[in-house]
Amino acid sequence: MEIKNICCIGAGYVGGPTMAVIALKCPNIKVNVVDINENRINAWNDTKLDNLPVYEPGLPSVVEQARGKNLFFTTNIDDSIRDAQMIFIAVNTPTKTYGEGKGQAADLKYVELCARKIAEIATNDKIIVEKSTLPVRTAEAIQTILDSTGNGVNFEVLSNPEFLAEGTAINDLFKSDRVLIGGQQTKEGKEAIQKLVDIYAQWIPLEKICTTNVWSSELSKLVANAFLAQRVSSINSISAICEKTEADVDEVAKAIGMDSRIGDKFLKASVGFGGSCFQKDILNLVYIAKSLELHEVSDYWNQVIMINNYQKTRFAKQIIKSLFGTVSDKKITLLGWAFKKNTNDTRESAAIYISDILIDNGAKIHVYDPKVSKQQMISDLESLNTRLYVDNEKALVHHTCPYEACKSSHAISVITEWDEFCDYNWKKIYDSSIKPAKVFDGRNVLNMENLRKIGFEVYSIGKS
Ligand code: UDX
Ligand code: UDX
Repeated sequence: MEIKNICCIGAGYVGGPTMAVIALKCPNIKVNVVDINENRINAWNDTKLDNLPVYEPGLPSVVEQARGKNLFFTTNIDDSIRDAQMIFIAVNTPTKTYGEGKGQAADLKYVELCARKIAEIATNDKIIVEKSTLPVRTAEAIQTILDSTGNGVNFEVLSNPEFLAEGTAINDLFKSDRVLIGGQQTKEGKEAIQKLVDIYAQWIPLEKICTTNVWSSELSKLVANAFLAQRVSSINSISAICEKTEADVDEVAKAIGMDSRIGDKFLKASVGFGGSCFQKDILNLVYIAKSLELHEVSDYWNQVIMINNYQKTRFAKQIIKSLFGTVSDKKITLLGWAFKKNTNDTRESAAIYISDILIDNGAKIHVYDPKVSKQQMISDLESLNTRLYVDNEKALVHHTCPYEACKSSHAISVITEWDEFCDYNWKKIYDSSIKPAKVFDGRNVLNMENLRKIGFEVYSIGKS
């Protein structure tokens, strides 16, 4: 039977854009995206497309074309589950903050809740698709929960991890490098895989759709993110060597990236990687390896996180050191708070950790980000539990004008690589800065030579 009705649980950064693209590319399929968060659903239904809860280039146009036709955002979870032939689970799977596996394992609480809800509601056979990133063998747990309801409904669980990167999500979904679908290697499992292949085949060439067993698919998602993050940590570790040797990290990256065996992607030295996936997925891998008593493997991957923490701390310490060893009562400007450009997502952004260190050292943080609200910044600081809410509020000043954010500043640091930062009138910023005026470019995006000509002292990652 052809799939005509899909439900996706979780209207977040993954569920929203992915379902919008499926709806656009498959006009004959009705797609219901559900979420327990009513505000989020309302934002997805907002007639003003600027108010969509996820900022993603190209997304408003996709939503506009499909919403109300075959794409619906609703809090009516039960009916949407009941009517669906295929249900995607795209709820968040954060790192556990409590109990067994605290700080490393993925918290599968929400995934389990979804499975229980589906089991409770379903009255006919369904294909369940894991979209959330999950530890290897989670499908087994989902299958067990679904099968233990005893209401005679058959469930096939597939793994279909998402590889989109925020900021380029729509393009990534339109032109995926590959779509990965894992399923049981039984007759029923293979039929379920084929149904999902048929959906993606509406716009993805068949040779780019890779089918595997369910465990390979689950593990591949973790491994893909671990490899990408490892490249960033590798080049960041080299950036520290460059700063002490007069080698230039961008030149090193270019030179090694021209080797086709290495490739030139994910070699941009930075203030440290962020985002909802890299750290969480590596920690997960570390935890899985440890649980399997593969301690050497676990230590190996943990080092990627350690270098990332080192890079963030190193950057903050560099600011303190160059301001004569103290930032107490000094105004430090952060340009950018999002974990990368072209997104309003701030999860695990380096900005949070760098601010925390600077605030601990007595600094006043003044932040400008084109897409992140003050409320989000404060809530990010709050999540670290370092100090009282009132103290976070006092320490962080949010700006809607970058020039105001930079005015009378002791140090200006670029944390996110937003394009607009390169186009600013840096002479004007220099004139309004406390002297000696200092810029810390955590993304190596500014024109260093030009800034130095203006009179700035410039610190860049991996350059001397
Ligand atoms: C996704 C993946 O699912 C995660 O595993 C991956 O590693 C990162 O990307 P993402 O879409 O970014 O998560 O998360 P988020 O934007 O937080 O969206 C999840 C949504 O699920 C939220 O809107 C939340 O309200 C919703 N949710 C959560 C439910 O509808 N039901 C629940 O029980 C739990
Ligand atoms: C990542 C994966 O790329 C994607 O396939 C997966 O589905 C989810 O996780 P995302 O976290 O959205 O996507 O963004 P990504 O472009 O991978 O960047 C992650 C972090 O690494 C960002 O903070 C980015 O600034 C940083 N980064 C990336 C670098 O510092 N240097 C690089 O060369 C590349």
